[in-house]
Formats: sequence, structure tokens, C-alpha cells
Amino acid sequence: MSKFTIVNHPLIAHKITMMRSVDTSTKDFRQLLEEISLLMAYEVTRDLPLTDVEIETPICKMVGKEISGRAIGVVPILRAGLGMVNGILTLVPNAKVGHIGLYRDPRTHKPVEYYCKLPLDATERRIIVVDPMLATGGSAAAAVQFIKDRGCKDIKLMCLIAAPEGVKAMQEAHPDVDIYVAALDEKLNEHAYIVPGLGDAGDRIFGTK
Ligand code: PRP
Ligand code: URA
Repeated sequence: MSKFTIVNHPLIAHKITMMRSVDTSTKDFRQLLEEISLLMAYEVTRDLPLTDVEIETPICKMVGKEISGRAIGVVPILRAGLGMVNGILTLVPNAKVGHIGLYRDPRTHKPVEYYCKLPLDATERRIIVVDPMLATGGSAAAAVQFIKDRGCKDIKLMCLIAAPEGVKAMQEAHPDVDIYVAALDEKLNEHAYIVPGLGDAGDRIFGTK
């Protein structure tokens, strides 16, 4: 079974409450999502391996630490995942970015793929798939499957808000993919929206409704 982590931090709790509020503007919503993504990236990258490196300070030689092994690839699920990319890149500026285009069919709630472009060396990278909402889990599970089908093995999923149904579906489909969220909400409603959630993340980021 994969690891499921709720990233607990007062700043994240405060900012996510602001995002949930129906009174929050598109501009503030986007800004808050970027800020929370940066804070979450700190936790998602906690287990990056380190190696010793000899350097010279202005005073003397010393052995410091540097990150070793695979570089990072960030893969947002379009559209809403785009809102989480810049926060991660602020912490990990050398990461490469792939894109997966999926939308939920409003009738069936099943994901439909319309785009996939990954970095050429994606299979050599630690992939972090990002999407603010893990509702039924269909989109995230499909996105991870597309990435696995292209040869990637080292994959994590980072979401803002999850429903228990989505976590369960992801863990059943991909028991090797650790999941990080900022909040675990109560349930899904009859339209497969997260309750209490924050509404339609893509529409709130891009101001399309
Ligand atoms: C939203 C969200 C996820 C998906 C979650 O995207 O950003 O990708 O729904 O739902 P699921 O877990 O039930 O699959 P949406 O399909 O609304 O597309 P958009 O980002 O283009 O608005
Ligand atoms: N997609 C969203 O944007 N919000 C939800 O609550 C569920 C799916």
C-alpha cells in the first residue's frame, strides 16, 4: 500500500481556508495555490537522497551535502494542475515539466485524455504528478497510468484536497505511488465534487465561470 501523507502546517491550513471561501478572487486563489504548492513541495522532496561533496568555504575545506540521483520532473494534469507548477519550480528550479491533458466527462465522470507530452528523459526522473483535486481518483489514476506506460517508475502524486473515495481508488490502482495532500475532506456529492471542497479548481484558477 502506498504512503498517504496529509501535509500539516499552520500556513497551509490558513491558506487553504482562504481558497475554499467562495468570496476569494481568481487572482488570490491562483496566488494561494502557488504558495501552498511551494510549502507542500518541501514535504514531497523530504526523502531526496544526499551525497557528500567536498567544497571550500572562504575559511577552510569542508564536506557538505548535495542532492544525488534522479532529477525531478513535474507533471501537471491540465488544466488545474498548472496552478501548482510554479510553486514547485520556485523550490526546484531545475525540474523539467511535462503535461497531461485530461478532462472529466461531465456525464460519466470518467477521464478523457487529450494531450500528453513528457520530458525526453522522463524515465530517468522522479516524477511528481500534480492536480489540486483528487475526487473520484479517475483522472489521477489515468494520468499515472499514462506516465507508467511511457516507462516511468518513480512517481508521486501531490494534490491540494482529496476525497476518501479518490485516495482509495488511487491506492488500489497504483499501490506504488505515494500520495501527498494538504487536506482530506469528507466525501463526494452526487456530481462527484468534493464536499466541502472548493468548487471547480480549474474554473477558479482561470476565471472561466
Ligand atoms: C478536475 C481536477 C482533476 C479532476 C478530479 O479537472 O483538476 O483533474 O477534476 O476529478 P476526479 O478525481 O474525479 O477524476 P476537470 O476534469 O474539471 O478539468 P479542468 O482541470 O480542465 O477543469
Ligand atoms: N474537480 C474539481 O475541480 N473539483 C471537485 O470538487 C471535483 C473535481
